[in-house]
Parts: sequence; structure tokens; C-alpha cells
Amino acid sequence: MSNTVSHDNEASAIDVSRELPRHVAIIMDGNGRWAKAQRKPRIIGHRRGVETVREVVKACRELEIEVLTLFAFSSENWRRPAKEVSLLMDLFFIALDREVKKLHRNNIKLRVIGDHSAFPERIQNRILKAEALTADNDGLLLNVAANYGGKWDILQAVQKLMAKAVAGEIPASTITNEMIEAELSMSELPDPDLFIRTGGEQRISNFLIWQLAYTELYFTDTLWPAFDRNAFDKALASFAGRQRRFGHTGDQIEKLRNA
Ligand code: IPE
Ligand code: IPE
Ligand code: MG
Repeated sequence: MSNTVSHDNEASAIDVSRELPRHVAIIMDGNGRWAKAQRKPRIIGHRRGVETVREVVKACRELEIEVLTLFAFSSENWRRPAKEVSLLMDLFFIALDREVKKLHRNNIKLRVIGDHSAFPERIQNRILKAEALTADNDGLLLNVAANYGGKWDILQAVQKLMAKAVAGEIPASTITNEMIEAELSMSELPDPDLFIRTGGEQRISNFLIWQLAYTELYFTDTLWPAFDRNAFDKALASFAGRQRRFGHTGDQIEKLRNA
């Protein structure tokens, strides 16, 4: 049995004795710089990045991590040159076909979070097909964040709540944290325990904002295409060595761990 502490104002209990994260969220950054260092076009870095995704998915399966959330394309990435955006769409389209069969064979459930409506119809259809194919799998849950933005996620949750309030389904005066959380992407999942960003930048870049409130943050200079099992293990070791306090004192947490 693991030891837990409760939030003062929430019924949920938080695990303080877990060595492995249940949910890992990753900003896969550095593909372009990896390619540039080899005097290759940026798309070569993105392609090599797909191989890293395969390796990290495999590691999560082996370690029995429950949820992996990967930032593949942000709501700001449309600002890139049209050619790069179009090549990224092609890569996403191909991966949705090729990789999904493998994911399905490995009992992985795929979900694509973000605003799908901005994608070309062929991609939207493939997303729906891939999600439907893997919907009943109960192994690793793989969330791919595509045209995702943390601000968008909060905004769409608030819009849904407002619509309910206008329809008289909920009184507007009683909006709670839990009601917002229920409308967010990944509402039914535990928040990420460990956040990893490769590529050297130390920022969130509009990834999960609400959900990262108490996540352990890990930044590495390793570029995503070069992020291997050893690098992933280092991030996991860093997580295992941390004391998560959730507002309590270190002594309180130690007491609970030793109880
Ligand atoms: C991350 O790598 C992949 C996407 C944002 C799609 P980048 O393409 O941002 O690589 P760098 O940061 O330019 O090296
Ligand atoms: C964040 O990386 C988005 C993804 C990895 C998909 P960026 O490379 O777009 O982030 P910024 O613009 O450098 O902050
Ligand atoms: Mg980048």
C-alpha cells in the first residue's frame, strides 16, 4: 500500500511514495537543430524524431507507465514556414497510418488531443480511425498533442461551462476547480507526474498549463532525435530522487513515507 496525503480542500489523495511516474508528458524539442548540425534539412530531424517516439513508447510499455503525453505540434507551430508545416502534416499523416497498426498490436490506446478542426480533412479522418481502432486497448495510453495549446484547453473548458450555465444546467456562481478540470482534455486522467523537455529550452511553450501545476519538471540539453533509453532513464532517476511535497513540509512527507 502506498502512503498518501490529502489536499486540504479536495477529496483526492496524492501519492508521495511512488518511484515511477504514472503519467509522463514530453515536449519533444530539438529536431530542427539536430538536422542542422548534420547539414540536413529540418524534416530529416522530424523523421528521426519519430524513431525516438517509438523508443520512448517501448520504454513506457516495459516500465508499465500508464500514460504518455507527447507534444507533437503546438497551436503556435502554424507560424513556421508553410513548407515545414506541410511536411510535418505529411509526416503526421503517414505516422498515423504506419505507427497505429503497431500501437494496436501492442495494446496501446491512442488519443489525439488539441483542436482537430484546423487539420486537413484527410488527417481528421485518420485521427478518428486511429482512435476508434485502439479505443478498447487497455495497455499504455498514448496522448499525442497536435494543434494543442494549454490556453486553448482552458478556454474551451470555460466555453463549455458557460454554455451549461446559459442553458441553466449549472448555476454560474458555483464554478469550481473540479468543474473546470472535468472539461479539460485528459480530464479523466491523473495529471502528469513528470514533465520532460528536450532540446535545452527551459519553457512550457503553451503545453499543458493547468495540468502541470504540481508536475516535476525535467529539462535536458539532449536534442529529441538523440534522446535514447539511457537519457529517458536519467529523467526517471531524477524523478525518483525528488520529494514531492504538495504544500506540506518535508518532515510531514517523510513521516508518511515511513509509516
Ligand atoms: C520540435 O522540434 C518539433 C516540432 C515543434 C514540430 P523543433 O522543430 O522545434 O526543433 P528546433 O527547436 O528548431 O531544433
Ligand atoms: C514546442 O516546441 C512545441 C513542440 C515540441 C511540438 P517549439 O520549438 O515550437 O517551442 P518554442 O517556440 O521554441 O518555444
Ligand atoms: Mg523547437
